Formats: sequence, structure tokens, C-alpha cells
Amino acid sequence: MSKSCTDAVKRNRVEITPDRVVKVFSQGAHKSSRFHHELEALRRLRGVDGIPVLLSYAPTGRRITTARLPGTSLDVAQAVPDAVFLRLRVLVEDMLYCGVARHSLPARDIIVRPDGTVSVVDFERCTLRRWRFGPIWRISCRVARFNLLRLIEAHAPHLLTPQEQTTLRRQHRWRAAFHRHRHWFHRL
Ligand SMILES: Nc1ncnc2c1ncn2[C@@H]1O[C@H](COP(=O)(O)OP(=O)(O)OP(=O)(O)O)[C@@H](O)[C@H]1O
Ligand SMILES: [Mg+2]
Repeated sequence: MSKSCTDAVKRNRVEITPDRVVKVFSQGAHKSSRFHHELEALRRLRGVDGIPVLLSYAPTGRRITTARLPGTSLDVAQAVPDAVFLRLRVLVEDMLYCGVARHSLPARDIIVRPDGTVSVVDFERCTLRRWRFGPIWRISCRVARFNLLRLIEAHAPHLLTPQEQTTLRRQHRWRAAFHRHRHWFHRL
């Protein structure tokens, strides 16, 4: 079985076979930088439970091959146990510890494995830590944790602590205010 898919703006070619996933950064803006980010993130995360194993790569063709993770992506998974989100929290912290902060965390990039464990794929849009105490890294960590909370809010809101709910409400208010002002500014 082999399945090919390309996203709406045809940035990458992704071929999924029973045992591997081949991703070719063939089109779109910053394709070299996206290839570099994905490759470097996979290297930094090598050995972390829940991260696909890097099998091979081809810099000239901007092609990365990883082992296919068994399971279903969270956007189509049915009746996901709470433990998955608890494990996901740990995995996001593991990623930050290794110096990789994802910019967003869409459900399609979360793989729920048959044994109830969880994995994350797709690292082309992430910040790679250069200086642990620098402002960019601190902001990136906040963004990564905020996106995790948004994902939990969408799928298992009962798992959020009161403090996390307050954080999310505050962030939602900030975002709404930002969009209102941007809209108002464009009308000038
Ligand atoms: N190693 C893997 N094991 C299992 N499934 C995978 C693996 N890598 C990718 N996938 C699945 O293939 C989809 C597309 O891969 P990926 O997100 O890396 O490509 P993409 O071009 O960035 O896609 P998009 O723009 O939709 O995020 C993922 O959302 C995921 O569901
Ligand atoms: Mg993706």
C-alpha cells in the first residue's frame, strides 16, 4: 500500500507506505529552511519516545525518510483516552528540553498509537534553541505550551487545571483584542 498526499498549497510531497514516510520539500517559499528545520529537529529528538526515527535524508533532493508510526492521527481518532493527553504533555516538555519548540500543534500531526501512547510528527515549523536564556527561546516555549493547552481544550477540556483555563481565557482575550485592532487599523 502506498499513499501520496500534498497539502493545499502543494508545499511538500508526502508519501506514506506501511513502514516509512518520505517527505520531499519540493515547493514553496523557504523550502530549504523548512527542510533544515525538520532534519535538525529530528536529530535533536533522536531517541525520544514518541518521535519518528530518522531513517535517511538527501540534502540535494531535500528528502527526509522516517519510520512510519503505527496508529491514527488525533483528528480522526475515536474515543481518545485521557492518558494520551497526559503523555502528550510530557512529550512536549521532552521536546522543549531537547531544544525544539513547535509553532503549532494541529491534531493531524499527533499520532495515537494502538498501545495508547502518543507521537508527534512534522517539525518543519519550529524554533530550534540557540540560547537557553534568550528571549526568543522563552517566547517559543510559551507559544508551544499555549498551543498544547489549546489542543487539550479542544479535545479534553476537563483535563485543564483552573490556572490553565485562566491562562487560555486571557490569551483568547488578547488575541481577540489584537484582531479587533488590526481590523480597525486596516480600515484607516
Ligand atoms: N512518521 C510518521 N508516521 C505516521 N504518520 C505520519 C508520519 N509522518 C507524517 N505522518 C502523517 O502524514 C501527515 C503529513 O505529514 P507532515 O505533516 O509531515 O507533512 P506536511 O507537508 O507538513 O503536511 P501539513 O502541511 O498538512 O502539516 C501528518 O499530518 C501525519 O498524519
Ligand atoms: Mg503536518
